[in-house]
Amino acid sequence: MQTLTVSLAERSYPIHIGSGLLSVSHLLAPPLKKKKAVLVSNTTVAPLYLNKLSTSLTELGIDVLPVILPDGEEYKHWETLNLIFDALLKNHCERSTTLIALGGGVIGDKGGFAASCYQRGMPFIQVPTTLLSLVDSSVGGKTAINHPLGKNMIGAFYQPKLVLADISTLDTLPDRELKAGLAEVIKYGLIRDPDFFIWLEANIEKLLARDKEALTYAVHRSCANKAEVVAADERETGERALLNLGHTFGHAIETGLGYGEWLHGEAVAAGTLIAAELSCRLGWLSAASVERIEALFLRAGLPVMGPALETARYLELMRHDKKVEDGKLRLVLLKGIGQGVISDHASETEISAAIAARCT
Ligand SMILES: NC(=O)c1ccc[n+]([C@@H]2O[C@H](COP(=O)([O-])OP(=O)(O)OC[C@H]3O[C@@H](n4cnc5c(N)ncnc54)[C@H](O)[C@@H]3O)[C@@H](O)[C@H]2O)c1
Ligand SMILES: [Zn+2]
Repeated sequence: MQTLTVSLAERSYPIHIGSGLLSVSHLLAPPLKKKKAVLVSNTTVAPLYLNKLSTSLTELGIDVLPVILPDGEEYKHWETLNLIFDALLKNHCERSTTLIALGGGVIGDKGGFAASCYQRGMPFIQVPTTLLSLVDSSVGGKTAINHPLGKNMIGAFYQPKLVLADISTLDTLPDRELKAGLAEVIKYGLIRDPDFFIWLEANIEKLLARDKEALTYAVHRSCANKAEVVAADERETGERALLNLGHTFGHAIETGLGYGEWLHGEAVAAGTLIAAELSCRLGWLSAASVERIEALFLRAGLPVMGPALETARYLELMRHDKKVEDGKLRLVLLKGIGQGVISDHASETEISAAIAARCT
């Protein structure tokens, strides 16, 4: 097992990374101050891993209250969030009860947001079970639910006390989900870690084949990148926005098609290629680099073209995104592989042209 730290003064916390960690009960002990924990999961993940985690908690003398939610991005909304509050209140949970989110990014984001609000904040543990949540959403304290007018629009910054990253949960993850997670892994290489991008070019097939050693390395390196970015800019006033590479376009795809149609990582992949295309049109990124990026996403089995939404519709959806400031779109663009920049430099005409070139 390896442990990284997200350094945020009194809100610092460990990320334990390894195989079989759900059964290593003592890792869960430090943040559990009271004898009760609420385990929030969904109808897909609970049958696979809830027993294992509950057993570890029981060994520590903790009473476990499971809250099992419906599965899907389309349930990342108020009504389902409220089911968590219903369970917490009906079971007289206190502010000191710990909420544990066991699942992918949807459960982590929703569980974290519930923890941030319940009695103004209860302790919270992330147990991510998808590649995307292992490398990205479980670290950094962004929690949210969707609104019909925009993704992740209602939420809070709320750090977990601990992230338990058990790589063996990936054994049961569907291939399509594994590939979607790779979009966020590649993102770290593109925005700030060129050597990691080169490593990914050499090892992408191993990751697709679920080679444990390769997966552990990729999760560790991704989390190390994310932890550094978050420690430097917890509330996204600067550098943290780089993590949104491909996301402004990607969110437009997700919202435009309806949540759940394209996976988040798939939308981010196509969005990243639009950002690369735009960077190339601005003269910042060479055509050869765009090709290299496209080749890696293709090998990862990810889309490199956006869906056929009208360009005007993309722009309209992008204006709803959080990255709009004083009416100007701020985008993450590339000045090279491993060199992300935040820029409001591109005109609407240039953005439209890049979208048109990268959509079917
Ligand atoms: N908070 C952040 O910083 C952040 C960052 C990136 C993404 N996100 C959010 O994360 C969400 C996407 O997360 P995701 O890709 O994990 O999707 P997800 O949570 O919907 O999980 C994908 C699917 O895999 C299933 N699943 C999960 N673990 C499994 C396992 N081990 N075996 C079998 N099936 C399993 C889930 O039930 C679901 O059906 C989006 O809502 C996105 O906005 C948040
Ligand atoms: Zn993302």
